[in-house]
Amino acid sequence: MTEQKKQWGLADRRVLVTGAAGRIGSVVTRHLSELGALVTALTIVEDDGLKADRIVIGDTRSEADVAMALEDVDAVVHLAALPHPGAGTPYEVYSTNVVSTFNVLAQAGALGIKRAVVASSINAFGVPFNPDDIRPAYYPLDEKIPADVADWYSLSKQNDENTCRMAWRRWGIDVVAFRFPHVNSPEALQRQSDWLKEDPAGGVREAWAYLDTRDAAYAIELGLTASLSGAHTLFVAAGTTSTPYETEALLDAFAPGVPRLRRFAGREVPIDLTAARTVLGFQARHELELPTLPLPTDTPET
Ligand SMILES: NC(=O)c1ccc[n+]([C@@H]2O[C@H](COP(=O)([O-])OP(=O)(O)OC[C@H]3O[C@@H](n4cnc5c(N)ncnc54)[C@H](O)[C@@H]3O)[C@@H](O)[C@H]2O)c1
Repeated sequence: MTEQKKQWGLADRRVLVTGAAGRIGSVVTRHLSELGALVTALTIVEDDGLKADRIVIGDTRSEADVAMALEDVDAVVHLAALPHPGAGTPYEVYSTNVVSTFNVLAQAGALGIKRAVVASSINAFGVPFNPDDIRPAYYPLDEKIPADVADWYSLSKQNDENTCRMAWRRWGIDVVAFRFPHVNSPEALQRQSDWLKEDPAGGVREAWAYLDTRDAAYAIELGLTASLSGAHTLFVAAGTTSTPYETEALLDAFAPGVPRLRRFAGREVPIDLTAARTVLGFQARHELELPTLPLPTDTPET
């Protein structure tokens, strides 16, 4: 199925990766290079470990830096951002993220570049970072879930998704925006899982979802190569949650009043992953190996 969706291989394609020295960017840069892409790495910080065809030190907010990085490029992976509300002042986080995404996509679109992949976030629907103790409107989360945004990082990601749609309408650049959940190395995901085992309520607003960084790189590969047109916002996640408990038991305990549009089997993640599977043929390859345990009756509520 995935093979049928392949539009191009990546061999000798010139791909710009912004935020190339970051947690996801460094893995993506290596992955795309290993697939034969000629990667231009745009990074604001020097990083001797970067394996790229070309390295541009620059700022994604700068028109000149992005113009230099886009020279001779035929596809873009835009990851540079301040990745949570506390990564700067509200002004810094919001303005860095929305100006960077606008700058990269507007210049790429105007140059006639035909494909971009952009890091949105599960936070684009606002609930996980909402200061009020709210719950999603329903489970499984999907791309149409109503948003309730009350922080500047989530707002920036919601805005980025609009920027993707505008760029496609204006310049015809096909864009895949990924609503990533918590993305990390297997070791860090295991640490998060250990923490959620003790405090499972802590994951309810993010549907206890996670994605191995290698799977984020694989999703980005498919975002660059799949045959598609338009601007697509897609949830991607591992098929299971990062807790050892059954999803139905978690939802009974921590989201009892929230409608469930279907039932969940075992540790199935309560996110609808159909769109990513349909549009890209994406399915995560790396999952935490956890036992299935009964949910303790004395777990804290939040
Ligand atoms: N890791 C996650 O759990 C996660 C989840 C959802 C979404 N995301 C999104 O994925 C993307 C990558 O996240 P990450 O976890 O690798 O974060 P990261 O902080 O490790 O990487 C982001 C990179 O962007 C760079 N950057 C920041 N401002 C810049 C600027 N003005 N110009 C150029 N570079 C700049 C940083 O130096 C950093 O190297 C971000 O857009 C983030 O919002 C990440």
